[in-house]
Amino acid sequence: MNESGVLQGKVALVTGGGRGIGKAIARRFAGAGATVVIASRKMENLEVAAKEFAGLPGRTIPIACHVGRVEQLENLVRETEKQAGPVDILVNNSATSLGQGSSLEVTDDQLLKTIEINVLSAVRLIRLTVPGMIERGAGGCIVNIASIAGLRPQNGGLVYSFTKAGLIMMTRVWAVEFGKHGVRVNAIAPGLIQTDFAEYFWKNEEYRKQLEATQPIPRIGVPDEIGGMALYLASPDSSFVTGQVMVVDGGATAR
Ligand SMILES: NC(=O)c1ccc[n+]([C@@H]2O[C@H](COP(=O)([O-])OP(=O)(O)OC[C@H]3O[C@@H](n4cnc5c(N)ncnc54)[C@H](OP(=O)(O)O)[C@@H]3O)[C@@H](O)[C@H]2O)c1
Repeated sequence: MNESGVLQGKVALVTGGGRGIGKAIARRFAGAGATVVIASRKMENLEVAAKEFAGLPGRTIPIACHVGRVEQLENLVRETEKQAGPVDILVNNSATSLGQGSSLEVTDDQLLKTIEINVLSAVRLIRLTVPGMIERGAGGCIVNIASIAGLRPQNGGLVYSFTKAGLIMMTRVWAVEFGKHGVRVNAIAPGLIQTDFAEYFWKNEEYRKQLEATQPIPRIGVPDEIGGMALYLASPDSSFVTGQVMVVDGGATAR
């Protein structure tokens, strides 16, 4: 795909854009000419990323935001509109994986906090941005970062798998509702990707060996492999694609 200028004039908001998958997505978007707002709790990571992207065609703007706090999400969208303009592309990427382990030991607090960060943040950001997209009539694009853990059960991952499965179904419902307004909604379900988030798995020698022995593409993925899919979903190349879950997992779920 010819990336150059494909998102010129667009404003993208990427949660968790300071590291890992979100940073790779933001880099691709800025490389394609978009003005990209990256948002997460730690301003220092965001500032490092924005500096790194300074030579790219699109501008990168860091804004601190805890996605589990409604007033911070409201501030994020307000600041984005002030500094960059209304949001055309929203990537719900920030997530947490509280309560890993025995499902019998999961607390209500872990469950509720994970819902707030992994799912409710997307609901709230969509509420804050999609009405404007519809009103402007220029289309819009939402990309939700789910997981293959939302497609098949992850042993010891009750809370995380449940929230990702919820995000996948919400993606399809939103796509059905917003399609007539030109707003497309898709999800990406990554397999194991080398980021801080998943180091428990990829640093585990036994897990790694098992993955290499069973996964059709026998290696761990890298964040840019999700960045490429996100750029496709945000670009006019995917203008007839909505309500889909794009699985990027080296074939892990193909078996
Ligand atoms: N890596 C994998 O193997 C894998 C596989 C499937 C799906 N995923 C999904 O991919 C997405 C990105 O994960 P990653 O692997 O790139 O992990 P990562 O490198 O640990 O990045 C997570 C990002 O989320 C942000 N974040 C966490 N809690 C937040 C909060 N309360 N408010 C705002 N931002 C918050 C973090 O920034 P701050 O710390 O600055 O807040 C960070 O930018 C997640 O949705 C994850 O579920 C990852």
